[in-house]
Parts: sequence; C-alpha cells; structure tokens
Amino acid sequence: MLVTVKDMLTKARANGYAVGQFNINNLEWTKSILLTAQEMNSPVILGVSEGAGKYMGGFKVVSAMVKALIEEQNITVPVALHLDHGTYEGCYKCIEAGFSSIMFDGSHYPIDENIAKTKELVAVTREKGMSLEAEVGSIGGEEDGVVGMGECADPNECKAIADLGVTMLAAGIGNIHGKYPANWKGLSFETLEAVKEKVGDMPLVLHGGTGIPEDMIKKAISLGVAKINVNTECQLSFAAATRKYIEAGKDLEGKGFDPRKLLAPGAEAIKETVREKITLFGSADKA
Ligand code: 13P
Repeated sequence: MLVTVKDMLTKARANGYAVGQFNINNLEWTKSILLTAQEMNSPVILGVSEGAGKYMGGFKVVSAMVKALIEEQNITVPVALHLDHGTYEGCYKCIEAGFSSIMFDGSHYPIDENIAKTKELVAVTREKGMSLEAEVGSIGGEEDGVVGMGECADPNECKAIADLGVTMLAAGIGNIHGKYPANWKGLSFETLEAVKEKVGDMPLVLHGGTGIPEDMIKKAISLGVAKINVNTECQLSFAAATRKYIEAGKDLEGKGFDPRKLLAPGAEAIKETVREKITLFGSADKA
C-alpha cells in the first residue's frame, strides 16, 4: 500500500534526517529502489516526472506497477508515489491514477496564479488524503547544453505558499538539476535560513540532489530540508554499468541478446547509489 509523505517528513524533521526521492524510469529502476529501501529499512519516495510517466505508458501503468511490486516483493517500508514537477493537468491525472502524492510546479506562473492553483490543489489533495509539494523560485538545470543557474526563492513568497497548507515546499536556493557546473557558487544557506524563518516547521525539499557536496547536504538537513530529490546520479550509474557490460562484449556471450542480463548491471548500480544516498540522508532504519 502507498502512503503519503506527510508522516515520513514529520518524523524526518523531528529526528534530523531527510527522506530520499528517487526518480523512476522503468521496471528495473523501480524494483532496485524498492528492494534497497527495504534492505535498509528506510522510507522512500518514488518520483515520476511527466516525461517518465509518458515513457512508461501512462500514470495508471506506473501506479499499477508500483503497487504490484510492493505486494509481490513484500515491501513493508513506507513508500510514497509522487508526481515530480507536475503541471496543473498532470496533477489531476496522477490524482486519478492513484498516486499518493503530487508536486505542483507553479514556479513559472506569476506568484498570484501559482497561489490560486496551489490553493485549489491543496483542497483537492486534502479531500483525497494525498500530500502536496509546491515550488517557489525555479530550480536551474541544463537545457540544450546551457546550464541555467538556480534562482533563489523570495522568503515572503514561500510563506504565502506555505500558508495555503501544502505538505512541503521546494524553495530554490541555488540548486540545479543535473550536474553542477564548475563555477557553481554552492547552495545559498542564507536563503534557506531566511525561508525557514518564514515557514517555521514546514518540511523543505531540496531538488537537484546529484553532485551536492556531502557537507552541504548535511547542513541543508540541519536547516529544515526533509526531502532530497535524486535522479541524475541513478541515470549516470545505470548508464556507466550498462556501458561497461557492453564494452566488455558480455551482451554477445551465451545465447545471444538477453535484455534481462543486459539490464542487470545497471539495476545493481542503482541499488548501490540508493544505498549511498540513504546512508548520507540518514534515513536507514527509520521505517
Ligand atoms: P538531479 O537530477 O540533479 O538529481 O535532481 C533530481 C530532481 O530534483 C528531481 O526533481
């Protein structure tokens, strides 16, 4: 059974750790993350972007796959299925598909429109017993080879969104999706502290978890971050392990091409990445 992230993050805040959101892209990926969370007795959040949802055949397919894996693989740790960077329309699709949590990314709307749409989704998710993440201040990232620096959120806008009753808030603090450029200035702890002061106990979400130095991750957790998103690092470890397997000519051995064997090293590599992150975020044995 899926749960919302509310209790996970309340416990994380109270005990000084963060819960990882690991984005999923296919069956192997999902199975690896669930089995590792179980092995480490850690709560886990499965993130699904709109693109990944489409790739896997639609949000209903993802929801059915995750629920069936939890049952068949005897996963007993808390698992949330969460829409990552949802559009307004995508949020409604995931509500209908049986997700337990959604993110509405209204950061590109003027703040009044972000507030109006978030408010509406607060009411809907409350009624459905789901959790809701909102975003203020856009998170940078790579687009067509150009890396945009992350914006820093306005603490007053964060308060306006937090006061609507969202479960958690993603505030931009100079974080970026994907790899960080060499001239990245690091996380703005000044912004994080100012946001925290305005939003009180509201759990904060750190996007762009790939490549942030460990000391910055720990400091962010100590300042109110309770959920950390990781995607690129799993992609990189999956790709590297698959490439190594092919370059060694292993895919050509035996009875010819076997997709189960080809994808196995990547699936193992994701387990290792998830183990490292769960250890760093401090959520092992917190299920
Ligand atoms: P990375 O791809 O940088 O790990 O970020 C993931 C993320 O924030 C998903 O929302």
